[in-house]
Amino acid sequence: MDSLEQMSKEQQQRNQSIVELFDDSARADDFSIKAAGVLLDYSKQNINRGELKGLLNWAKKSNLTTKISGMFSGDKINNTEQRSVLHTILRAPISVQKEVLGDSTIEIENTAQKVSSIVDNVCQGKYKSYVGKSFTDVLAIGIGGSYYGLKVALSALSRYNSSSLKVHLLANVDGDAIENKLEKLDAETTLVIVISKTFTTQETLLNAQVVKEWMLQRLKSPKAIYQQWLAVSSNIEKAKKFGINPNNILPMWDWVGGRFSIWSAVGLPLALAIGNDNFRLFKEGAYQMDLHFQHADFDENMPILLALLGIWNRNVLNYPGLAILPYAHSLRAFPAYLQQIDMESNGKSVSSGGQKISWATAPIIFGQEGTNGQHAFMQLMHQSTDIIPTDFIVSLQGATSYKENHEVLLANCFAQSEALMTGKSVMEVVTELASSDDIALAPHKEMKGNTPSNTIALESVSPSSIGALFVLYEHKVFVQGALWQLNSFDQWGVELGKKLSSQVLSLMDNNQSDKDKVSASTLNLVNAYLESSKQ
Ligand code: F6P
Repeated sequence: MDSLEQMSKEQQQRNQSIVELFDDSARADDFSIKAAGVLLDYSKQNINRGELKGLLNWAKKSNLTTKISGMFSGDKINNTEQRSVLHTILRAPISVQKEVLGDSTIEIENTAQKVSSIVDNVCQGKYKSYVGKSFTDVLAIGIGGSYYGLKVALSALSRYNSSSLKVHLLANVDGDAIENKLEKLDAETTLVIVISKTFTTQETLLNAQVVKEWMLQRLKSPKAIYQQWLAVSSNIEKAKKFGINPNNILPMWDWVGGRFSIWSAVGLPLALAIGNDNFRLFKEGAYQMDLHFQHADFDENMPILLALLGIWNRNVLNYPGLAILPYAHSLRAFPAYLQQIDMESNGKSVSSGGQKISWATAPIIFGQEGTNGQHAFMQLMHQSTDIIPTDFIVSLQGATSYKENHEVLLANCFAQSEALMTGKSVMEVVTELASSDDIALAPHKEMKGNTPSNTIALESVSPSSIGALFVLYEHKVFVQGALWQLNSFDQWGVELGKKLSSQVLSLMDNNQSDKDKVSASTLNLVNAYLESSKQ
């Protein structure tokens, strides 16, 4: 990474603003690229042609090409868990699956077929509930990768719902989350899908148990669970032990990471909502971005460019944040999804080889739908001491007849990227205020500008464009992890919190044997809870 340090020194000497880079009249066109139906305009990034060329050459000298082909061909690149990373294969044609996995493709095909049959049978009313009724609702219980992708896709593609089925997601262990769902459901007509790769996640198992008891209280027989519950897991034994009909357990494979699993049977709730055809289009759009990623030259490769610009901002310009601002209500869940995809993959400080690393890695991601963010954190973006690179995401076509609303939405998005780049100098403000009595306000009205951004534009929000958008960021994260020399596919960092929560839980059960395992602060907090629960 020494060359990045060199680039950083040279960039600081350049001291050129982003606006000045547009003196190069071809910049806007040359720093835009289209792939798999997605447009990326990266011309508002703070990088000139020579610097971009240097960054691309640095990437080409790395072993990135080898790592890309290694992932797609099933090398065990998740080295700490000795696993391949092959979620990509789940959206590829069967011929490609066979090239990589040979005969074990059969299980993938059978599972995809089973997903398709379940969708048909539920939606056509052939798959009945325990009391012989058609299903009206689906409740999917899962968290993390067993939730976020579904959350984004279900809200983004709600216009593509092809049946009257209502699909609900339950992730948080908070009783409020459970009550909020169960109060809307009829046990007699609810299909429950427990999604958990490990089938050991505390929140998911507790929620599943609560919902199971809710259903048993109403339907009185474990046969109802056998009839109305499905599971998606790699831990078949634990799913069976929970009481799921073995025929209703859909497999997950260890070479599919949880946060990349929506392409597997984890996508069943989405397929139930939008139908098999649209689920297939979702995967096809994803596959088109795979093909682009695998075959486009680096300087014309959207995920690689997005990754390198992120590395430029993180490691050369030293910006620790990244704002994800979808100017589309239907993509409101996308920032939270990317927090897991990006921060759980690359929020690390040890290389895949086990060495402590000295460079920065995953950015701190936040965001929410625009224009709402303009009334929340854009003040900071424009006038704080921090520069926060931003990804704006829009759909050029609105999905409704409200043309003026859509134009206002897009105008605000484009204006924000412009304002973040240009800012407003004190001189400009003074000129504006010269004839007014408010000249003393001038310093308060300066906008720092020089904030880099990408604008990612979909033609429209559709199954294929959402599939392509998911994969654009999947591969951006893969490329950054590869260049930062990380293993992007494990997540050991979540283990300590899980272990401590069980110790705190035992303290809450007045089991004092664990009290020397936590701090006085945590003990006080536990006691505060115990006191309050006596009232
Ligand atoms: O956040 C930790 C994590 O292991 C994620 O990687 C995973 O998506 C989530 O918990 C849920 O895990 P499971 O699907 O095994 O319940």
